Amino acid sequence: MNILLVGSGGREHALAWKLKQSNLCTQLFIAPGNAGTSLLGTNLPIVVNDFELLKAACLKNNITMMVVGPEEPLVNGIYDDFKNDTNTKHIHVIGPSKNAAQLEGSKAFAKEFMLRHNIPTAAYKEFTNSNYAEGLEYIKNHSLPIVLKADGLAAGKGVVICTNTMEALSEFELMLHKSKFGEAGKRVVIEEFLTGIELSIFALTDGENYLLLPEAKDYKRIGDGDTGLNTGGMGAVSPVPFVTEAFLQKIKTQIVIPTIEGFKKDKFEYKGFVFFGLINVDGEPKVIEYNCRMGDPETETVIPRIESDLVELFLATAQQRLHEKNIIINPKSVTTVIAVSGGYPEGYEKGKEIKGLNKLTITDGMLFHCGTLQKNELTVTNGGRVIAATSYGQTIKEAVKSSINTLQQLNYDGMYYRTDIGYEFE
Ligand code: AMP
Ligand code: GLY
Repeated sequence: MNILLVGSGGREHALAWKLKQSNLCTQLFIAPGNAGTSLLGTNLPIVVNDFELLKAACLKNNITMMVVGPEEPLVNGIYDDFKNDTNTKHIHVIGPSKNAAQLEGSKAFAKEFMLRHNIPTAAYKEFTNSNYAEGLEYIKNHSLPIVLKADGLAAGKGVVICTNTMEALSEFELMLHKSKFGEAGKRVVIEEFLTGIELSIFALTDGENYLLLPEAKDYKRIGDGDTGLNTGGMGAVSPVPFVTEAFLQKIKTQIVIPTIEGFKKDKFEYKGFVFFGLINVDGEPKVIEYNCRMGDPETETVIPRIESDLVELFLATAQQRLHEKNIIINPKSVTTVIAVSGGYPEGYEKGKEIKGLNKLTITDGMLFHCGTLQKNELTVTNGGRVIAATSYGQTIKEAVKSSINTLQQLNYDGMYYRTDIGYEFE
């Protein structure tokens, strides 16, 4: 079967790497892809939100499965767009419907879903301009810290954690009266601050059944020791040592199963990944957020631990027979360390030549491209996050050492990476 993968980051390179290994994959196309995915399949110069061009490319290339990497096309309804078109409705789309993708597209929608299905999460209330005054009172009477969230997609920037009431009142005003996050912030979710360690859990679901993927922990801050600005993610580890069998059981019974049951009760059409952003509050798991896709960089860590054929699993997902499948997981530790552009997550330059790619020696791991571009003979930087070095190890420490060893063989102007990924798990 011919497969189209939508997206262009490290997540997509890792998915492309895995899809390509399947005997069921004849030809692989990636739209738009990056320099790394071009080594595994054919990159198509189509942006992820151009559904008409994506449909035309599917028909032209006899594509019968489309895997959607990023959230934006999902929230914009790519699934429904393909299913409602007689020419493309036969194509298996891996990703949720537009309605179900609102779990990521609207924080208020996700909170209402959790409340309805009794899924543990932070206490909250939502506000718009119509109950603005009530919002001010709510903030004044709320304990600190307090969390303000723009309802819609805000490129990972819509969450503000305030440690004093004045700051919270001012943020609230900026969001609702000054359009700080544009349309995304026209509705604001205010919730209690939860203290604990975060982790990411992933499931593949066909809307009825699910398979749990390996868990991961992502490192969001730019600096060693979890300091400095928030980024899209500077590295990840899997497995996560504090996720014991007992804790995982709680996650399943209190969160994963009620979520899938909730999909059924609410009649969500969902054939894709569910990403549970969780926090461990004194041994009790709570949901911080849902995403309707895989995480980045978690995918670069989680996918290499899966030994099962991913195309087979996707086919079973599309045909709603995931209950027939199980998933084989490599017990080794896997880590990913991300090299970014100088200046990221603030302003950075693109177009820097990445040197050392041709003579790279990696013993037990692989290199995934995030923001890269092939320019004639040169591979150049093309984003904030540039390269993901993934390694296997007997321990997290050993794997991280290998990931760093990989990155030490590469060089570009402004290259930066954290050297302490997995530091808590020495
Ligand atoms: P989100 O976009 O909802 O994932 O939020 C981004 C980040 O803000 C999360 O990964 C957490 O680190 C933090 N965060 C969000 N909500 C809360 C909360 N209720 N308590 C503590 N931290 C939070
Ligand atoms: N690494 C977090 C995310 O993909 O949202």
